[in-house]
Amino acid sequence: MSSNSEIQKRRTFAIISHPDAGKTTLTEKLLLFGGAIQTAGAVKSNKIVKTATSDFLEIEKQRGISVATSVMGFDYKGYKVNILDTPGHKDFAEDTYRTLSAVDSVILVVDCVKGVEEQTRNLMQVCRMRNTPVIIYINKLDREGREPYELLDELEKELNIHVRPLSWPIGIGRDFKGVYNIYEKDLRLFSVNKSQISEDVVSISDLQSEQLEQLLGPKFAGQLREDVEFLESYYEPFDESLYKEGYLAPVFFGSAINNFGVRELLDTFVRVAPHPQPRDAAQRVVEPEEKSFSGFIFKIHANLDPNHRDRIAFCRICSGKFERNQQYYHSRLQKKVRFSSPTSFMANEKSLLEEAWPGDVVGLYDTGSFKIGDTLTEGETLQFKGIPSFSPEIFKEVINRDPFKAKQLDKGIRQLTDEGVAQLFVQQPGSRKIIGTVGELQFDVIKFRLKQEYSATCELNTLHYYKACWITSDDKEALRRFISLKGSNIAYDKDENPVFFAETSWILRSVQETYPALQFHFISEFY
Ligand code: G4P
Repeated sequence: MSSNSEIQKRRTFAIISHPDAGKTTLTEKLLLFGGAIQTAGAVKSNKIVKTATSDFLEIEKQRGISVATSVMGFDYKGYKVNILDTPGHKDFAEDTYRTLSAVDSVILVVDCVKGVEEQTRNLMQVCRMRNTPVIIYINKLDREGREPYELLDELEKELNIHVRPLSWPIGIGRDFKGVYNIYEKDLRLFSVNKSQISEDVVSISDLQSEQLEQLLGPKFAGQLREDVEFLESYYEPFDESLYKEGYLAPVFFGSAINNFGVRELLDTFVRVAPHPQPRDAAQRVVEPEEKSFSGFIFKIHANLDPNHRDRIAFCRICSGKFERNQQYYHSRLQKKVRFSSPTSFMANEKSLLEEAWPGDVVGLYDTGSFKIGDTLTEGETLQFKGIPSFSPEIFKEVINRDPFKAKQLDKGIRQLTDEGVAQLFVQQPGSRKIIGTVGELQFDVIKFRLKQEYSATCELNTLHYYKACWITSDDKEALRRFISLKGSNIAYDKDENPVFFAETSWILRSVQETYPALQFHFISEFY
């Protein structure tokens, strides 16, 4: 097959949601409809449930599950679908943001009872920043949820995106009768069915037909006619190009647990969702059709077996063809690398991979040479954009009480921060190490893994900073003066970029006003 047709048939996306909206359930149902799994229950939730009984090992086990389900690929109607999994817990939001840098579109799941929630807002903000195309699936219609018009209104207002329903629910909760597919003009009648794919579809070419009364009863038939008439006059016809620009989100209604509304979603998704797109590098735009291979690492996962220190680095292919045993160029380390056992992921099975194309994700075994954001090419130096670190909000200083273990501790901390578990900042002079995260849970993971994998322990002393911001300036002298003046509040990130630690929001504001020649960044990406 030519590279062009390989690219055209790929759909690489993530399902995102506030925890509990139904991301795991929908993922599983998509795999079921796609024929990748045969029974429900095969996909484990990667939710991290921190209960009284769940210790750190439990957290790790739960995180471990997500290795197997990190990427789920399957073939559907001639398309190659790659679903990239994202952690649900907000303490791992950075993992999710990085994964979003490796997809071409997303499906956002919203609970019809709860509507837009905190993580829905945060995740959508990242999608809006990158103009990632979004399809919205409103889930749990079998529950007594909110009015669909009210939900659409809330989505537009809170998520700053235009919406266009492509299906419409008939009744809700106990009265939920099914959905009318506005696009295909057919009616799907609802039945509670958790384990089977049911196909109760009635084609309705004319909504005025009496058949509607027979199927839904007079009340719901009348309501549906009224709703569809209103929707068709209120909304413009669905414009695919506006969706692809990230401006307009098509909306579907359903009940994932009951396999309902999933097929329309998947069928429309493969038809309209973008194939692998060009990607911005600091040097130039990289087109997927280019002959030369390029890709970047967006996620690194440690091996849970302490006897095998290797890790899996997840590489999103951006251009060309990836081949097993080929020599590639590691842009940051400026050295040649070769992979003898790259892994592909189909549903939740891993297997050896011979070749892969743009949009695919390849698992590369790594003994510590990769950092998040690293680029592989056939020789060109490239640095892909869009894999930033975010300003952390919780800070702890690393204190080593065992001088004999200093080396292990150092190595452990560097490797864990390379994996993106947390960010490491080093203060000069004295090499004081500060770890920054967005959530407390990461510190539990760090402590546990340092002990388990590196036999190192340390104390983590809380530092009371409000935020860490990257600082840049065109005026190099002004930057140098600021750094020397604010020495005790300055540290350097993994790429030696200076970072300013502000104790309070007030201090940050006043410093910003006092030093107008400097820029303060809340995201580590500033080209
Ligand atoms: P998440 O990955 O977004 O966190 O959500 P997940 O799929 O785990 O779903 C969260 C809960 O919502 C689960 O119930 C799941 O069964 C339920 N759910 C998902 N889709 C629907 C739906 O269409 N209708 C209804 N009524 N419920 C739905 P749970 O009790 O937390 O877990 P479980 O014991 O059912 O697995």
